[in-house]
This record gives sequence, structure tokens and C-alpha cells, in this order.
Amino acid sequence: MQARRKIAVAGATGRVGRHVVDVLKAGGHDVVAMSRSSGVDVVTGDGLAEALAGVECVIDVASGPSPDQEAATEFFTAAARNLHEAGERAGVRRMVVVSMIGCDRFTAGYNAAKVAHERVMLSGPIPVRVLRAAQFHEFVAQLVEWGRQGEVSYVPKMRTQLVAARTVAQALADLATDPETAPASGSAGTPILEIAGPREENLVDMAILLAGRRGDPVKIDGVSDPADPDRELYETGALLPGPDAILAGPTFEEWLGSTS
Ligand SMILES: NC(=O)c1ccc[n+]([C@@H]2O[C@H](COP(=O)([O-])OP(=O)(O)OC[C@H]3O[C@@H](n4cnc5c(N)ncnc54)[C@H](OP(=O)(O)O)[C@@H]3O)[C@@H](O)[C@H]2O)c1
Repeated sequence: MQARRKIAVAGATGRVGRHVVDVLKAGGHDVVAMSRSSGVDVVTGDGLAEALAGVECVIDVASGPSPDQEAATEFFTAAARNLHEAGERAGVRRMVVVSMIGCDRFTAGYNAAKVAHERVMLSGPIPVRVLRAAQFHEFVAQLVEWGRQGEVSYVPKMRTQLVAARTVAQALADLATDPETAPASGSAGTPILEIAGPREENLVDMAILLAGRRGDPVKIDGVSDPADPDRELYETGALLPGPDAILAGPTFEEWLGSTS
């Protein structure tokens, strides 16, 4: 039986955040759900000091509204600095942060913003563990929406080992509630771990599967952005997990069957 811990979740209402809250509550932990809708803004710092009172660990799964590199970098670095500052004052002992597999292989875009996020997180005073995740099953629908132009949706050609947000949430909760599960920054080992789904998928094929299951008549077209200096990386496997990654189901198709 694990000890009951007080854990704050930044981004508690998001795709992965809602599952993190759920998993922690199911484990009997005391959860502080932080998002702007509950009066806590990790970018401006509003409500943060009050929310972190008595908190032992913060799980950072917040994300800003824009995937644009500059906007996302500003969001993540401001949030990381504020969480460290307010967390140190409140006596927070460690933080667990979600990032993206392969982000350090990219030079631009959202992946570069995640590298900046990791850097600021790992250089702060509170020990941090980073869990790099593959693209979430839930993210496929978002990409279909972002790419929709009339009857066609243009989704990026991508090799990815899609993972359920719930599976990532479980791993984040394990890292937060068991301080022995992995080394943190400031200790001898590497604080960066990876988690992905059970098998590699082709994003375009999964988007077609999703649209079919949902009865969405949209035509899916796989594209590669000629203006993106990193475009080849998406198709050559830079987002795939390394040999030491945690791999866990369900597959995208199993997940789709259980949610639709
Ligand atoms: N999506 C993926 O496939 C994927 C894959 C790997 C890693 N990740 C990482 O996982 C994390 C979460 O992604 P997600 O897709 O779950 O995000 P999401 O669904 O967009 O949720 C974002 C969360 O952040 C909160 N938020 C936004 N601005 C905030 C602010 N200023 N202060 C406090 N909370 C704020 C939102 O709530 P309010 O709007 O109420 O504030 C919401 O709870 C990100 O770091 C992302 O890089 C995502």
C-alpha cells in the first residue's frame, strides 16, 4: 500500500491531465487540479502559490493553445520558471514533466519548444523527471481537425508509435508517487525516460481508420511541409522510441474500439 501524497497537476483538464487526475484519485492521493478554469495560471503565476501549499510533487502536463514554436516556447519556459519558483517557496520536493520522444532531434517548431521546456525544467532548483511520450491516440483527431480544408484533411506523413493518454498518465502518476522509480535531475542517472504504444503506426493510415470509424466522410491526404526544415525526420522515424522505452497498450485500433 502506497503512502497518500499531495500532488498538484498543472494542465489538469487536458487530454492527458484529466487522466492523471483520475489515476491519482483512484490511487487515494490528494490531488490539486491546476488549470486556468480552476483559477491557476502557470504563465502569469496567478493562484500558483495558494495551489502549491503543502504539495509534495507537481506533475506538469500543461500546454498552451498554439503549436507555433515561438508561442509554445514562451508558454513552456514561463510555466517551468514559475513552477520552480513557486514550488521551491512552497517546499515542493520533486516534479514530473511530460515531453515528446525525439524532440531533441528537431531544430524547429513545437519539438524545439519542448526542448526549451525540458532545459528550463531540468535547470531549476527542484529535482525533475522527464517522461518523453509518443503522440497520443487522442492527438490523431486533433491533427485531422487542424488539417481540415473543406472535404479534405491534410495530415502530416509520420512514423509514430501512438500511445493512449491514459497509459501515459499512469506512468506519470507512478513516477510522482514512487520517488524510487527513476533518477531525477541533480542525481547521478539520467532523468529522461520514454513511453510509447505497443507498435509503430503510420499516422495517415490511423487518421483514415479514425474517420471511417466515426463515419466522417473527410478524405485524408498525407502531406509533408516543404517549408519545414525537419520534414524528413517525421517520415524517417525520429519520433520512434529507443530500445529502453516503456511500451504499453492499447494499440490505436483497440483504443478506438473502446472509445467509439
Ligand atoms: N498531444 C500529444 O500527442 C502529446 C504527445 C507527447 C507529449 N505531449 C505533451 O503533453 C502535454 C499536454 O498535452 P495535451 O495534449 O494533454 O494538452 P491539452 O489537451 O491542450 O491540455 C492543456 C492543459 O493545459 C491547461 N492550460 C493551458 N494554459 C494554461 C495556463 N496558462 N495555466 C494553467 N494551465 C493551462 C489547459 O486548461 P485551461 O485551458 O483551463 O487552462 C489544459 O488543462 C504537453 O506538454 C505536450 O507537449 C503531448
